[in-house]
Amino acid sequence: MKDKTKAILTGRDPEAHHGAVNTPVYHASTILYPSLDAIRGRVPMTYKYGRSGTPTSRALETAITEIEGGAGCVLTPSGASAVALAILSVVKAGDHILMVDSAYAPTRRLCDTFLLKMNIETEYYAPNIGAGIVDKLRDNTSLIFTESPGSQTFDVQDIPAICAVAKTHNVKTAIDNTWASPLYFDPFSHGIDLSAQALTKYVVGHADALLGSVTANDATLESVKDTHAQLGHCAGPDDIYLALRGLRTLPTRLAQHARNALDIATWLNSLPFVQDVLYPALPGAPGHDIWKRDFKGGSGLFAVRLAPCSEDQLAAMLDNMRLFGMGYSWGGFESLIVPAAVKRTAETYEETGQLLRLHIGLEDVDDLKADLADGFTRAGYVLSSSSE
Ligand SMILES: Cc1ncc(COP(=O)(O)O)c(C=O)c1O
Repeated sequence: MKDKTKAILTGRDPEAHHGAVNTPVYHASTILYPSLDAIRGRVPMTYKYGRSGTPTSRALETAITEIEGGAGCVLTPSGASAVALAILSVVKAGDHILMVDSAYAPTRRLCDTFLLKMNIETEYYAPNIGAGIVDKLRDNTSLIFTESPGSQTFDVQDIPAICAVAKTHNVKTAIDNTWASPLYFDPFSHGIDLSAQALTKYVVGHADALLGSVTANDATLESVKDTHAQLGHCAGPDDIYLALRGLRTLPTRLAQHARNALDIATWLNSLPFVQDVLYPALPGAPGHDIWKRDFKGGSGLFAVRLAPCSEDQLAAMLDNMRLFGMGYSWGGFESLIVPAAVKRTAETYEETGQLLRLHIGLEDVDDLKADLADGFTRAGYVLSSSSE
């Protein structure tokens, strides 16, 4: 079955739900046991307590596992909690972990505060390190965490090269796979052990719920499940339902996000004051070759670096957008724009212009271009007549 079909079919069991096409929302903490034998564990029970799973959560876990690959999956209340769970499932006090320098800012914060407090040392590495990661390994390195494309600058990592090194040295690998969603990057066929995702973004797809998932291979699944249970990291049924509902249209939405994004990225690339378009799906953009080799599609999120401008010019642009909203998160049907800032510690990173992060939604691209063009003009940039 192709992924598009899996997105429609997996995790559904209408016969178990009176014919309802979608698995309904089960609100449950207490699950009643039919007998002493059952509560003593002598008779198997599929569901034992709301926190450890209901038909609603199992439906989404099954669907994500089947689409993303891996041996199984658990759901968490947010993408941030999924990242934390993936890390906590495989590390212990005294360990050293390698974290990509282009990681999502709250992931860095977890490393620099919570993990540090737990006596787990984080070392940041350059996103383009590839097989060179071998030089960073220590006797106590337990995890290499990747995020590809990374946050803000969208660096694409050579995941197969990193995983090959990790396997040889018996080190676990994890990825934040949110940008590509379960559809456009197969972490497990590229050698990853654990994949964390913010389902908040494309799977929910409507900017109205927070949810995360951690999918694991055979070797790490037990530890993920156990850590998930001990932390009580379960997600709420209404949010899970919204993600299940969103999943059914994910292939169609994501393909359109990617088409719109490529169109706008190509146009931006032609403008005289645009220094860089950081969209790996754009031919010639940084990371395009690895993206083409490893990914099955693009998404709607990328960054653009403009020639420098003042805070007032930026405000003139961003405060008056008609279609692009200014707000965090992404992956919903609507377009968003935010000023982006890069934090790097593994390498010197020079910010030469004004970086903006765009999420390209499902609106008409001509309308979106007109909104951006008006914004650029308000900021004082001059569009050449050929590109207006
Ligand atoms: C790459 C990435 N990972 C994880 C997250 C966290 O997701 P959530 O907002 O659901 O906690 C985000 C949120 O923006 C993200 O961009």
